[in-house]
Amino acid sequence: MKILFVCLGNICRSPLAEGILRKLSPELEIDSAGTSNFHIGSQPDYRMIETAKQYDIDISGLAARQFTKKDFDYFDRIIVMDAANYRNVIRLAKDDNDKCKVKFALEENKDVPDPYFGGKEGFEKVYQLLFNACQQILNSIEKR
Ligand code: 4NP
Repeated sequence: MKILFVCLGNICRSPLAEGILRKLSPELEIDSAGTSNFHIGSQPDYRMIETAKQYDIDISGLAARQFTKKDFDYFDRIIVMDAANYRNVIRLAKDDNDKCKVKFALEENKDVPDPYFGGKEGFEKVYQLLFNACQQILNSIEKR
């Protein structure tokens, strides 16, 4: 099972989700990407590195990359953080099989709020949301 997390910049939400799920399930293949090219090659945002570190997760070695349509061929599930990510990913799908791989991280297709322009508490909130989401993802995989 290969899982790709997607957000806008690939420096806050999706690298954290990658780090959390990798810790919960070291045997899964997990990656993350951004729909934008804003931060290609960058390390995760230092505020997210710090938040992750508080939960004993090290994401400091990750580097941002941009989502591409080839990701549909490689990954089994593509998990987006918000509705804008969803639109930008779906736009690159070649068929319904590709589209079916795309899911929201949160139930009811709610957005994981973008913490980039806010304060520290936004990063903590994202951790809580994504920790729960990753547990749900694992449950759904184990039930298959
Ligand atoms: P992310 O957060 O999508 O969770 O990585 C953002 C990072 C950077 C920007 C926006 C959101 N930005 O506008 O540069």
